[in-house]
Amino acid sequence: MSRSLGSAGLLLLLAACATPHDDPFDVPTRPVVYKTPDCPTQRRPRPTRSLDDPGPLPTRAGAPAAGRIAVTHAGVGTPPELSDGAERAAKTALDAMLEGQPALEAAVAGTIVLEDDPRYNAGTGANIRLDNATIQMDASLMNDDGAFAAVAVIERVKNPIRAARLVLDSPHVLMAGAGATRFAHLSGLEDVVPVSAEAKAKYDARLERLKAVYEADGSLEFDWKKYWNFPNALPADMEAWRHGGDTVGTVARDAEGRFAATLSTGGTSVTLYGRVGDVPVYGAGLYAGPAGAVACTGKGEEIIRQALARTVYEQIASGISAREAVHAAAAEFPEDAAVGLIAVDRAGWGVAANREMAYGKAIESSAP
Ligand code: GLY
Repeated sequence: MSRSLGSAGLLLLLAACATPHDDPFDVPTRPVVYKTPDCPTQRRPRPTRSLDDPGPLPTRAGAPAAGRIAVTHAGVGTPPELSDGAERAAKTALDAMLEGQPALEAAVAGTIVLEDDPRYNAGTGANIRLDNATIQMDASLMNDDGAFAAVAVIERVKNPIRAARLVLDSPHVLMAGAGATRFAHLSGLEDVVPVSAEAKAKYDARLERLKAVYEADGSLEFDWKKYWNFPNALPADMEAWRHGGDTVGTVARDAEGRFAATLSTGGTSVTLYGRVGDVPVYGAGLYAGPAGAVACTGKGEEIIRQALARTVYEQIASGISAREAVHAAAAEFPEDAAVGLIAVDRAGWGVAANREMAYGKAIESSAP
């Protein structure tokens, strides 16, 4: 790594140059070598698979469905045994629509349930970052009329999706960092660090595994000490990096055929302080329009590079079913990076991930 590299350049290099690895949470399973020389030319190859041949995927589902519908995901990498919380979130979103709420408010309600579940990496379960103290979260929402709002690297709120919903009613589209946190508190959200026993347990388990990785011969690990930019000191016993599960989300279609999507995350990658993933980036983590709604989870840097949700939405708008579109996107994602997608369109729904992924669905009618 060049000594002249500034922190902005560093973040770009981290995003573009991290050597891929297998773990759905991006925890490396072998020594990681950061290659810098050829980064600027790295590009994802054009998709080669036909939509009719999405290849084997650990998670694939979808069907025609009529009426109100909500689909949720608990983050790529979450095992199917954790689907109960995602099912509960989907039911909450459907119930909201049955009570007359529009798709947007229903999708917010669904994601609040996911944020309040400490098993998932959002809100109460959000990852603790490298300094064993910081929790920085992103959340976003989009309605099919083009309305979009997001918060990035927000801290000290229990439900970041509520903060994103507040931004929607403000003159702004995206608020970040301390300003976003203060805005949320001034708007009535409680000042609380959403740490949980589950998040601490995840942290400890990963630390053990990561230590083994860094003790392996041949590791040319990125120099975290040198670029340490957290406001808290590097923990004395902390020679490793860590990170956790992934983004949760909800897509919904209401009785009027309106669509919306919401996302919330505690972040997924090995990161410096201030790293922002795909969730609050317009067109990356989620997208909604008159043809449907899409929400992603997974390797944020790659999702941003592909403008994944917008890309999948455009396929749906061109007539490809939500089910086919998300299956193809998951199958074509780089195999060494985790991704999951949920989508609804006018005719039905789809779920796909290149790892296991707990999800939920609540459907008014299965007959199209
Ligand atoms: N997918 C969540 C993130 O990369 O932050």
